[in-house]
Amino acid sequence: MNYNKKTVYDVDVKGKKVLLRCDFNVPQDKKTGEITSDKRIVAALPTIKYLLEQGAAVIACSHLGKPVATFDSYVKKQVEKGKNEADITREEWEKSLKKLTLAPVAKRLSELLGMDVAFASDTIGEDAQAKAAALQPGQVMLLENLRFAKGETKNDPAFAKALADMAEIFVSDAFGTVHRAHASTAGVAAYLPAYSGLLVNKELSIMGKALDDPKRPFVAVLGGAKVSDKIAVINNLLEKADTIIIGGGMAYTFKKAQGFEIGKSLLEADRIDYAKEMIAKAEAKGVKFLLPSDHVCAAEFSADAEAVVTEGDDIPADMMGMDIGPKTVEAFAAAAAEAGTVVWNGPMGVFEFDKFANGTKAMAKALAESGATTIVGGGDSAAAVEKLGFAEQITHISTGGGASLEFLEGKELPGVACLLDK
Ligand code: 3PG
Repeated sequence: MNYNKKTVYDVDVKGKKVLLRCDFNVPQDKKTGEITSDKRIVAALPTIKYLLEQGAAVIACSHLGKPVATFDSYVKKQVEKGKNEADITREEWEKSLKKLTLAPVAKRLSELLGMDVAFASDTIGEDAQAKAAALQPGQVMLLENLRFAKGETKNDPAFAKALADMAEIFVSDAFGTVHRAHASTAGVAAYLPAYSGLLVNKELSIMGKALDDPKRPFVAVLGGAKVSDKIAVINNLLEKADTIIIGGGMAYTFKKAQGFEIGKSLLEADRIDYAKEMIAKAEAKGVKFLLPSDHVCAAEFSADAEAVVTEGDDIPADMMGMDIGPKTVEAFAAAAAEAGTVVWNGPMGVFEFDKFANGTKAMAKALAESGATTIVGGGDSAAAVEKLGFAEQITHISTGGGASLEFLEGKELPGVACLLDK
């Protein structure tokens, strides 16, 4: 994929209206609706400030969560979840939408910028159009949650055009959503000249360099529960990395493929042949393929379960693997210490349970202490690094979960492909 794209530095935005797609999909407290991390808003600030300094008027937009845009689809979804159709009310649907308003984001953005941020109560409706028309250079506004409009996720050309009609230039700075072909991430580029923002540019250049021209040895650390989620990533990285490290729940399918006992551990039986194939491919290509050689197990999947460390590769029949063991931690950390570049995606164990968080903690520490270029992608591993206080020592923590994974898979990202080439 070509990710050498024109950026905001390549266009004169003075006096122009810029439609700026951000990823303001921020986590919120379920009860109070309060924003629990403003990291994604902060990540958008450099581009917003740059555009304002250059004399642009900024029409920011984003999605938040996964609202259901029509009452009919809401009813369908609730019925699928087992609810009785007669009990589902329009009020309840409207309430579900209200929870996902971007109004709190407008407020936080205004605090962070130290200036007013006008908030439109709709996306392409009267309020949005009136506020966009009145917007002056140096001012910023935010549209309501794009997914309140059904045209957004459907990439409806009419919706994309209506968004485009409010502006003269499109800037994509929502790295977290570049893997989506939605109206505001890709469709709109059919109607406006499209540039990358500073965040998208930073993500593309750091991760692009890691994949295309890494400082070697290039070590990829992959974790998470499922082999099936990481198949395309492993395949792509086998062509590029010097060492691939596999931890987390998916490691047990690989251990089974090697002929070890895995007890009650997570197993994707239909992926055993694939796992064997990958191990053989790595060997043929001279890529080191590191799997856990000991484990922390438990008799049940619970935070209070007793943690038992195995002697070696095998897991007792009545136990399940919950984390990588101490010998494995040492081997994985040593590989990270010798690396020139490390890319990490996915936790090493059930890190949400304290007793089984050691492997993930140790990996975060190993990356933080390594002199390598370190890149952490993926929601869970990024959250772990931040929670453990190692964020400052990591070269780059991607703001995209799904997007960074698809990037590592080598897939074409619609929100990148639509931008003007350099
Ligand atoms: C994310 O949180 O990963 C991005 O904002 C994309 O969100 P989505 O999975 O709802 O498209």
